Amino acid sequence: MTDGTQTGEVLTRTQQFESICKILEEFEYREEKLIPILQRIQDVYHYLPKEIIEFVANSIKIPASRIYGVATFYSHFTLEPKGKHLIRCCNGTACHVKQSIPIINAIRKKLNMQEGKNTSDDLLFSIEIVSCLGACGLAPVVVIDGEVHGQMSPAKVEALLDKILKKEAGNE
Ligand code: FES
Repeated sequence: MTDGTQTGEVLTRTQQFESICKILEEFEYREEKLIPILQRIQDVYHYLPKEIIEFVANSIKIPASRIYGVATFYSHFTLEPKGKHLIRCCNGTACHVKQSIPIINAIRKKLNMQEGKNTSDDLLFSIEIVSCLGACGLAPVVVIDGEVHGQMSPAKVEALLDKILKKEAGNE
């Protein structure tokens, strides 16, 4: 990838905007490439910012409403800012009976995320509660940044979050 998002590198606002220009060039400003264009933009910002949607609409010469239509149709896209790290907590039947709720509560407490909020104020973490991650044998399951963690407990998940928080603070 040319936009630097695969390395976890934090881009400045100018670099982010330059990435968007490169993405549009790469897809030759073609309307039929709108979905991959939006996917790549979301990789850069972790969501689809309003001003970027308007810029893309002008660049491709389509109404912004068309982009909003696509962005709201596919659940993969988000119009709200998302955290850098995505925590997917399973609360499906197998995980629920093995105490997924205390794990979810422990995550929210650790990250100061109020009930009803899914992204931490510092935009480091987002949490998603899902109904099955297809790994019921490992219940209770939490997936952090795509990595599956089975047989979780509040203490184990807190230790995983501590590791990420330390890394983010530059202590590792
Ligand atoms: S119910 Fe949690 S992984 Fe299936």
